[in-house]
Amino acid sequence: MLIFDSSQATDFLKNDAIEMLRQQTQTADESLKNGSGKGNEFLGWMDLPVNFDKSEFERIKQAASLIAEQSEVLVVVGIGGSYLGAKAALDFLQDPLCNLSKSKRKGPLVLFAGTQLSGTYLQSLLHYLEDRDFSINVISKSGTTTEPAIAFRFLRSLMEKKYGKQEAAKRIYATTDRSKGALRTLADQEGYESFIVPDNVGGRFSVLTPVGLLPIAAAGFDITALMQGAQSMRSTCEQPYDQNPAMQYAACRNALLRTNFLIEVFVSYEPCLGSIAEWWKQLYGESEGKQGKGIFPASVNFTADLHSLGQYIQDGKRHLFETFVQLQKPVHDPIIVADDQNLDGLNYLSGKGMHYVNEQACRGTIEAHLSGSVPILQIKIDTADEFNLGELFYFYERACGISAYTLGVNPFDQPGVEDYKRNMFRLLGKPV
Ligand code: PA5
Repeated sequence: MLIFDSSQATDFLKNDAIEMLRQQTQTADESLKNGSGKGNEFLGWMDLPVNFDKSEFERIKQAASLIAEQSEVLVVVGIGGSYLGAKAALDFLQDPLCNLSKSKRKGPLVLFAGTQLSGTYLQSLLHYLEDRDFSINVISKSGTTTEPAIAFRFLRSLMEKKYGKQEAAKRIYATTDRSKGALRTLADQEGYESFIVPDNVGGRFSVLTPVGLLPIAAAGFDITALMQGAQSMRSTCEQPYDQNPAMQYAACRNALLRTNFLIEVFVSYEPCLGSIAEWWKQLYGESEGKQGKGIFPASVNFTADLHSLGQYIQDGKRHLFETFVQLQKPVHDPIIVADDQNLDGLNYLSGKGMHYVNEQACRGTIEAHLSGSVPILQIKIDTADEFNLGELFYFYERACGISAYTLGVNPFDQPGVEDYKRNMFRLLGKPV
């Protein structure tokens, strides 16, 4: 069960501020529930854990089995909310070295494309795929985003050359809008199997739709357990403030913002949380960063980054707070053995597990950063499995909606993203 703990931030949180934020987050959550807030046409994610298309869910599982049977590699093509959730899930659930060996995987190797515009990356990927069996899951809600569209054009061409047009069509899965966009037109015309991104679910809230579910299932993970975790957290989020971690997290981060802590740093001690941090940064950055408002979301992976950014966090400008995301039971916990000669001086740790050492590093960091005037929030999760991941995804989404409404912005639009696109299209000479 996910636990939110603000006890290491109380010295920085004034009682009356938290009292005020308690009221405001309750009101914000009410607006989410009764659909009276800004962007209320995008609230489909709220009920997804219980209200999803069951027959499509079965079709996802069947497609996943077919992909695993037919292909050594699955290429997921998408950007922003159309890939970050799947990447977060896979890096959380998979063996950290799964890309190096088939025996470390439960399904095909999953590679990503269309997440940027690097020709070097794309060329290398195309070369790698030449003599391997592969499938493609192309994901774009709008069906018109430039980065994935270009990558897909290259990949489709390779696939058609390799397998012929007919066989290629059986290896391409499109996840897109029900009726609009270039990808929908292409999928219908070429006969690709397709999955729907519901109209009322925006990209960064779409991990529990086919956008996230197909790649996660194809990699061999249990999407039923993932949805059960999300269901469990949805029930928890129906509780009053004192039992509701999403409201408490939203209240504390807004209280800290109002005391001029402008940056939130997502801290993890396990590399498997690194891509969850990337997903979280998009969710919060794109939902809250508008109208001159918002908390800047950043992330570090300790202890590695204690040897780089640790100095700044301890001692630099005092405008950041940290949220430690702590995995209580790691998948593996090797024990440090005694050494006869003890030349490295580590025998004082013999008999201890790596997790114990990691935990002491974490406790030591918390003490140090508190003494450096950094408020610390903590999110504790049991273990890296599908159920806990479902809980974590829903917790962050719900807290994001509450937090953005508390801040007074529409969490479900992203007007700022259009600016670079306009300029890029002008520079590229795109016909209007
Ligand atoms: O959260 C969002 O809406 C965005 O980050 C989108 O996911 C991203 O821009 C990709 O859009 P699309 O799925 O339409 O290609």
